[in-house]
Amino acid sequence: MKLGKIYNEDCLITMSRMPNDFIDLVITSPPYDDIRNYNGYSFQFEKIAQALYHVIKPGGMVIWVVADATINGSETGTSFRQALYFKEIGFRIHDTMIYYKNNPMPQTGKRYHQHFEYMFAFSKETPKTFNPISETTKYRGLANMKNRGKNGSLDYEKVERTKEKKVGNVFCYSIGGGISTKDKIAYNHPAIFPEELVIDQINTWTNENDLVYDPFMGSGTTAKISQLLNRQWIGSEISQEYVKIAEQRLKEHIGKDLFVTI
Ligand SMILES: C[S@@+](CC[C@H](N)C(=O)[O-])C[C@H]1O[C@@H](n2cnc3c(N)ncnc32)[C@H](O)[C@@H]1O
Repeated sequence: MKLGKIYNEDCLITMSRMPNDFIDLVITSPPYDDIRNYNGYSFQFEKIAQALYHVIKPGGMVIWVVADATINGSETGTSFRQALYFKEIGFRIHDTMIYYKNNPMPQTGKRYHQHFEYMFAFSKETPKTFNPISETTKYRGLANMKNRGKNGSLDYEKVERTKEKKVGNVFCYSIGGGISTKDKIAYNHPAIFPEELVIDQINTWTNENDLVYDPFMGSGTTAKISQLLNRQWIGSEISQEYVKIAEQRLKEHIGKDLFVTI
């Protein structure tokens, strides 16, 4: 299979041409609950989940970003059902991470604003790569006992230190025009990933030259970020219009002239 390409076809067809145990990381956001029309294309969830299991390497990961529609006053529960299905067919639900939007669309009615989507991390066996993102935290306090004073009282040292610790599993991003990406052309697609999200997940679960696959490539965010982070990549996108957007985006912003095979 040729790498560095977006295949303009149903991802089930692309995956049927892949060998087993081929991909290190899938990062994707499927077209869930018909929330958006995406030029009328839909997907066969169960078949796709099974195909993903075959093409992912042992120790590989699937980062599956989803949310529920609200229909007749109730959230559909699709996200949970999908997560449990992944588990049923052999994946582990390694982590239920959250993609938190700092600035979501406001909600009306008797609901709080919808700030997050699930970002499930499914693993095939134990993850083989984990490069945790860390942050610097400040510690201030009376931590160290220094001396026992003459009168037997305890004498504590005032300390102020910084230390590195890995971040939590809620990832916060601002989104929207000019923020999710600087690439204007990407906004011709209705539901793009913030680039920062893809950077964080690719850095966490892969090393350079690993192979990243996005079965629902949309405007090409995963392709662009993989290329910039020196990962190999491959993608599927069923809509020709979106493939053209991705092609143009990659050409303009990373100088990669894509040759789309199908
Ligand atoms: C949520 S969008 C992905 C957006 C992408 N993450 C980005 O940053 O631009 C889902 C995409 O899946 C595509 N799609 C729907 N069914 C598909 C299928 N069976 N195979 C491949 N792509 C499909 C839609 O056309 C849509 O562009």
